[in-house]
Amino acid sequence: MNPDELRRTSCLFLQDVYKSYGSKLVLDDIDLAVAAGEIVTVVGPSGCGKSTLLRLILGQELHSSGTVLVDGQPCGFADRSRGIVYQKYSLYPHLNVLDNVLLGLRLSCGVFERWRRRKAFEDEAMTYLARMGLQEHARKYPHELSGGMRQRVAIAQSLIIKPKILLMDEPFGALDPGSRENMQIFLLELWEEFGMTIFFVTHDLEEAVFLGTRIIVLSQHYTDGRGNDGEVRRGARIVSDRALPKEAQSTLVKTAARFGELIQQIRQEGFDPKYLRHAGSFDLTHPHSFQTLRKEECGQ
Ligand SMILES: Nc1ncnc2c1ncn2[C@@H]1O[C@H](COP(=O)(O)OP(=O)(O)OP(=O)(O)O)[C@@H](O)[C@H]1O
Ligand SMILES: [Mg+2]
Repeated sequence: MNPDELRRTSCLFLQDVYKSYGSKLVLDDIDLAVAAGEIVTVVGPSGCGKSTLLRLILGQELHSSGTVLVDGQPCGFADRSRGIVYQKYSLYPHLNVLDNVLLGLRLSCGVFERWRRRKAFEDEAMTYLARMGLQEHARKYPHELSGGMRQRVAIAQSLIIKPKILLMDEPFGALDPGSRENMQIFLLELWEEFGMTIFFVTHDLEEAVFLGTRIIVLSQHYTDGRGNDGEVRRGARIVSDRALPKEAQSTLVKTAARFGELIQQIRQEGFDPKYLRHAGSFDLTHPHSFQTLRKEECGQ
């Protein structure tokens, strides 16, 4: 598909997106088109700009140049079209579980509406809490919950506003391996039920390959026609973008040889500073992947 068609049909569309902080270029010409209902997992070396990319999509930060569209519209400030779950600190410690989940609904309407619909809001929040298996914990405070329970509250808080895109920044990063795997399966169940698009940043390659319908690798380790003399300010680009098979999800797939090979390949492509691919030969095999290289970037 060409970029114009993708721009019209994608749930999330980025073209020629740059982001700098002062003189530091972080994101260097990002092109990305995501169809509704995908789980896009994002991996890359620490500090390469994964969270920055996520904040741009959320509308929490402004890109330096380029286009960022959510459902064909400029992404603007954070609103109900996008929900976010962080590794920690998604919940307000002084609010109980129910009030934390209600917060999203309450913030989205005026005082009168909030008062008039308080019972309906509360019923809805309880329905979400029941779905998360947290009904009996509605009156507890975040510090009284386990890490996994807290993250389920944070997911409920985001899902209740029915976002088109659920953004997640290492949401399971602080959990022990058992709880982490339970949360992965739980998230896939919610995804099948609610059908939202998920943009999921993680440090864990196994998690990324297991959860995603598509994986993108962001990295600053590559070459292009701009030369290699250390003078070139090079930010991270999408160096790999591929579709992942979504078989009936069983965690057994993690032990398959093919699964391990793919992880090794992604580790090399994105994380090995010595493995420098030219920007013109990145592994962009996903059918919606596109790339607009400028003339000076193309040369060998
Ligand atoms: N508000 C800011 N002001 C200045 N520099 C920033 C700001 N936010 C991020 N950076 C810089 O931008 C780069 C990318 O940061 P970012 O947090 O997006 O990386 P990341 O890939 O999410 O890293 P990690 O895997 O460690 O979470 C880093 O060099 C960071 O220092
Ligand atoms: Mg980060």
